[in-house]
Amino acid sequence: MGSLKNEEESGILGEMESNGEAIVYINGVRRVLPDGLAHLTLLEYLRDQGLTGTKLGCGEGGCGACTVMISYFNQQLKKCVHHAINACLAPLYSVEGMHVITVEGIGNRKIGLHPVQESLAMSHGSQCGFCTPGFVMSMYALLRSSQAAPTEEQIEETLAGNLCRCTGYRPIIDAFRVFAKTDNMVYTGRNLESRQSNEFICPSTGKPCSCEPKYVGSADKMESVGDCNRRYKQLSYSDIDGSKYNDKELIFPPELLLRKLSFLSLNGFGGLKWYRPLSLQHVLELKARYPDAKLVIGNTEVGIEMRLKRMPYKVLISVAQVPELNVINVKEHGLEIGSAVKLSELLSVLRRVTVERAAHEISSFKSLIEQIKWFAGTQIRNVASVGGNICTASPISDLNPLWIAAGARFQMIDSKGNIRTTLAENFFLGYRKVDLSNDEILLSIHLPWTRPFEYVKEFKQAHRRDDDIAIVNAGMRVHLERKDEEWVVLDASIAYGGVAPLSISASKTKAFLTGKTWCKELLSGALKMLEEDILLKEDAPGGMVEFRKSLTLSFFFKFFLWVSQQIDLKASLTETIPSSHLSAIEPSHKPAVMGKQDYEIVKHGTAVGSPEVHLSATLQVTGEAEYADDIPMPPNALHSALILSKKPHARIVSIDDSGAKVSPGFAGIFFAKDVPGDNRIGPVFADEELFASELVTCVGQVIGIVVADTHENAKLAARRVHVEYEELAPVLSIEDAIKFKSFHPGSEKQLKKGDVEFFFQSGQCDRIIEGEVQVGGQEHFYLEPQTSLVWTLDRGNEVQMISSTQAPQKHQKYVSRVLGLPMSKVVCKTKRLGGGFGGKETRSAFIAAAASVPSYLLNRPVKITLDRDVDMMITGQRHSFLGKYKVGFTNEGKVLALDLEIYNNAGNSFDLSLAVLERAMFHSDNVYEIPHIRVNGKVCFTNFPSNTAFRGFGGPQGMLIAENWIQRIAMELKKSPEEIREMNFQSEGSMLHYGQRLEHCTLHQLWNQLKLSCEFPRARAEVDQFNAQNRWKKRGVAMVPTKFGISFTTKFMNQAGALVQVYTDGTVLVTHGGVEMGQGLHTKVAQIAASAFNIPLSSVFISETSTDKVPNASPTAASASSDMYGAAVLDACEQIKARMEPISSKHSFGSFAELANACYLERIDLSAHGFHATPDIGFDWKTGKGNAFRYFTYGAAFAEVEIDTLTGDSHTRNANIFLDLGYSLNPAIDVGQIEGAFIQGLGWAALEELKWGDAAHKWIPPGCLFTCGPGNYKIPSINDVPSKFSVSLLKGAPNVKAIHSSKAVGEPPFFLASAVLFGIKDAIAAARTEEGLDGWFPLDNPTTPERIRMACTDEFTLRFVDSNFRAKLSI
Ligand SMILES: Cc1cc2nc3c(=O)[nH]c(=O)nc-3n(C[C@H](O)[C@H](O)[C@H](O)COP(=O)(O)OP(=O)(O)OC[C@H]3O[C@@H](n4cnc5c(N)ncnc54)[C@H](O)[C@@H]3O)c2cc1C
Ligand code: FES
Ligand code: FES
Repeated sequence: MGSLKNEEESGILGEMESNGEAIVYINGVRRVLPDGLAHLTLLEYLRDQGLTGTKLGCGEGGCGACTVMISYFNQQLKKCVHHAINACLAPLYSVEGMHVITVEGIGNRKIGLHPVQESLAMSHGSQCGFCTPGFVMSMYALLRSSQAAPTEEQIEETLAGNLCRCTGYRPIIDAFRVFAKTDNMVYTGRNLESRQSNEFICPSTGKPCSCEPKYVGSADKMESVGDCNRRYKQLSYSDIDGSKYNDKELIFPPELLLRKLSFLSLNGFGGLKWYRPLSLQHVLELKARYPDAKLVIGNTEVGIEMRLKRMPYKVLISVAQVPELNVINVKEHGLEIGSAVKLSELLSVLRRVTVERAAHEISSFKSLIEQIKWFAGTQIRNVASVGGNICTASPISDLNPLWIAAGARFQMIDSKGNIRTTLAENFFLGYRKVDLSNDEILLSIHLPWTRPFEYVKEFKQAHRRDDDIAIVNAGMRVHLERKDEEWVVLDASIAYGGVAPLSISASKTKAFLTGKTWCKELLSGALKMLEEDILLKEDAPGGMVEFRKSLTLSFFFKFFLWVSQQIDLKASLTETIPSSHLSAIEPSHKPAVMGKQDYEIVKHGTAVGSPEVHLSATLQVTGEAEYADDIPMPPNALHSALILSKKPHARIVSIDDSGAKVSPGFAGIFFAKDVPGDNRIGPVFADEELFASELVTCVGQVIGIVVADTHENAKLAARRVHVEYEELAPVLSIEDAIKFKSFHPGSEKQLKKGDVEFFFQSGQCDRIIEGEVQVGGQEHFYLEPQTSLVWTLDRGNEVQMISSTQAPQKHQKYVSRVLGLPMSKVVCKTKRLGGGFGGKETRSAFIAAAASVPSYLLNRPVKITLDRDVDMMITGQRHSFLGKYKVGFTNEGKVLALDLEIYNNAGNSFDLSLAVLERAMFHSDNVYEIPHIRVNGKVCFTNFPSNTAFRGFGGPQGMLIAENWIQRIAMELKKSPEEIREMNFQSEGSMLHYGQRLEHCTLHQLWNQLKLSCEFPRARAEVDQFNAQNRWKKRGVAMVPTKFGISFTTKFMNQAGALVQVYTDGTVLVTHGGVEMGQGLHTKVAQIAASAFNIPLSSVFISETSTDKVPNASPTAASASSDMYGAAVLDACEQIKARMEPISSKHSFGSFAELANACYLERIDLSAHGFHATPDIGFDWKTGKGNAFRYFTYGAAFAEVEIDTLTGDSHTRNANIFLDLGYSLNPAIDVGQIEGAFIQGLGWAALEELKWGDAAHKWIPPGCLFTCGPGNYKIPSINDVPSKFSVSLLKGAPNVKAIHSSKAVGEPPFFLASAVLFGIKDAIAAARTEEGLDGWFPLDNPTTPERIRMACTDEFTLRFVDSNFRAKLSI
């Protein structure tokens, strides 16, 4: 039982009272928290209690998968408050006395779904479902905490702290839109014509919505599939506290209303102490007793320090409930803010105060409001405190520059009660060092009112707009006085974050400004001063030095314009700002997302063609869907941790594991010498070692494995293994690999058509250009980290495992190999994945194989779950590429010849890199007719973890290289890229450079429909007009086509098996070789089985994928799984139907169950194995000719973007996608795949940057991955979804080459997001034109703010770099 007061402390803490026990309510159930758990997070506790609906995605507050709602009685407000929080960062004891509601607490399959859950499920808002409980809980908490229905913008803002890698967010937004405030205009007779054209208004919500009824091909089959109107009535809110929401709602436990909080003194593992004092006096007493104690409020910093940075804090004092630290008072001279005040609370008070006070007093308040809006996500803001942010003294703190600029004062109190005050400007002393002695704490912050003509402004530029830490931020203040028709600076303060080890004041600039007249000369003088104030060394930590320096000037320029505008508004003009310059300071406003989907429903039988909801959706939204890590640990099971190389290339001199062996809970340690079977592994060539024996060839290579009683203990033991290395020279880039001829053996490939060399020499090309394209890599960032649970049967005679893998057969093969067991004795099962995208194909197998060694040798179940940072560091990514091209063309733009060399960065093993290179070579024509072409490819060996499959499998990289030279031709000829594209399109009958002829080519149709739909000429004209009127914001448009080959390019892999079992009650169990990873494969396959037997979809069930049911399955990859497994299942169904036929033809049966039973009684086998081998494919590398693909999926997309040329910020205003999917098996799922792929592609094209320790990033240790968590690797969030997002499927275009005339969808749409990149490039070109730069310029993916800003050459960037500057990229 929880001891609330440690007796030995009763002297000093004698006055602190306890209630006897520490309690928490979880989903309405009272639980006593035992002592000894201070090291646990709430998430760990919940999952230990079997509440596995709350997921562990990252453990660092960056993904939202662990979102739960906490409710507590706020003594000051005298009401219950409800907040979404990240359970992964909340210390368990921080929720003492609170009610925690998890996804299990709001609804389930048995008692019924909560409307939030139901809406998400029915709107196709879950694919893999791993993020889903987090989204449900964020939305639920928003509704419970809102007095009135939230607006759509509020909903999107709330969800910024939740990441989804599958859906592209649009369906989630639509699902939750039904809870938004309605627009009564619809009901009050708003004139329909007054709406924007094409807008559909949802009859349920009264808002524009994408629930518009979709239609079916012919009029007689017309059917509405719009969703909102079918589902909900408006929900009611309690007028007491807005929290009562439906009848089944869990109420706030009465005990917690009556109960008084008490002082807590509890313990945790390793001697950790946890105190919760309830008065300032007690805080000071504890601080006096434990001067090194850490104060904790939100734990969003301390939690990261302890878990990720391994800071060994021994005493934690939670001050979140100390009233004196939670004050927030309006005082005569400003606002007093207690140091424990949470950011969300501060935000709401600031909003209130700004309404109440005079306009001139609240300038700094407004800037704080704006800054907090972009500070982390809702869950973090709900717990993170003002004092925590200040005292962390992070150099990129968003608020500290503002406190400095605003002239805030900090009050400190020492353990004797002495109070002193200091200016914020003087508080920060160095890197994470502040002016606080060990016995002092920060008491409060005093934020003064601003005076007339005193202006404060915030600035922040991050990689991603939402929920991201700053690259550079700033707070700026100026106090002006009107003198002789001029504005003179009385006082100023300019403070920056992100440009030094601490938040700094630009003191020379400040001195310069004081007393000067506010005019253009002041601006240019200040910019010069800033260059002196902000000094960043070339290899400063964080990199991006030129960008960061440019930002400091851009921000000041914006500030200058903004202040000038403020004066303008208030008084007469001294200096008129040209209207085009106002674009620099217009606030960015992103309207709520509007999605539109257009498709036909062509039904085939009972289920095929119907937009059915994902079969697991209900389980996913309730948290009942189990993933590998949710499976309860068997008795006697052990946890494991990998011992990883710390060097990119080295000889292992010695390994000292003595420290591990005496570590708590240690159960065993295993190295190469212990592997019972073969230590050499690899999916194609066995060129890897399971455990490195002599050499390590990358950071993160596995050297051994430790097992222990808990995951934490296993990790601790692994950290205690000391490896001594002799370092060798590493190869850390493609350039290096080329230089040192470091290629994987036998990886040189060539494809050609015509005679390139002869043609170039023949003089027939009007122009020939040469260039180079760098293509950045990408992390899969599946939300569910890699997991396997391995156990033995009959003391090692058999081995079984449950793995989160797309390739169970590979797990079976690897484990059988390393253990020396026949494959028939090894079984791998996979129920579902929380996303895969190629990352769980081969790079999951070595992890399971590693865990199988201790399991086999100790005969105990062993679980391995990778932490997010380890997962990202060791499991490989999408390959980076380098393309070198020489292209010849006519003056009109017709391409005549292309000579291309492409290289991919394989990392330290072959893995699938050759096949990835080959696909890139196949796709390096994208959709263009090239009479003479030669493509040479090489796979580079580098000292990085082996790169691997990722949606598109090299195709997007090949196509991106193609679109680069197309774009360059257009720029050379001063024509639009779209014109060059169209002019060079392949068409029906085109012969490709690998000898395959195009059949059923729908490219022209799609392109023309897209052009019509997006009204390209009008869009172009509007963008040009916008650009002419705006100097610092630019828009761009682009249309990009794609053609994606469907099949594995290795012929034997194009085979599939299935097992179909019909039971006597008429239900059907289907098992096939494919894995459900969110893409809806099981749903589509079940639809095929249902239609085959003419039974409802609900009669078909697919439980899992298992190597003992369907053998030798290819990985679920290459987009072809529905084609192949659908066909295999259909084959099995047809066999069973043929066996049933003699019975069914003789009698008429009332139901399929009656028929099945009758067959059973006639002793007919109701189980069949189906098989499919994709016909008419085969490519021969010896001749370089053949049908590499069964068919192609075509598509085209339009994007319109807007950029801020001063900061590099970008946003996609409009994306319009057309795809040919034949007759879709399930258009709702296909639309989900398209949207998800597009947003993932947008991440690759425009957002996600991998930063490795290489020559370009010397501040990162060689070979290490810096971007190894959601904290600094940014995948798209909800704010990155295009404001208008339309998807259309080509109608009336059946595909004769795949099942039920459908087409594959998973990978083809991914590349279409490059339209965003080319839209951005178009916008940058407009900015460069203003500077007289009309020529071609390189723009690598991802087009991060850094690349955009630095390509928008202007007077600010030119101070640091020339117009050819190319930002560094790890490739
Ligand atoms: C996912 C994520 C996103 C984030 N995004 C941002 C962002 O956008 N911008 C940004 O600036 N930061 C960001 N942060 C950093 C962090 O959230 C903030 O610094 C936060 O305000 C810290 O508050 P806390 O209450 O959680 O601090 P805690 O972790 O509880 O404490 C932080 C430190 O402050 C000390 N401390 C707290 N109160 C006092 C006191 N009264 N006196 C003396 N010392 C004290 C603690 O001892 C500790 O050293 C982010 C963090 C995460 C995990
Ligand atoms: S697991 Fe908590 S935010 Fe990712
Ligand atoms: S459904 Fe959101 S991560 Fe998979």
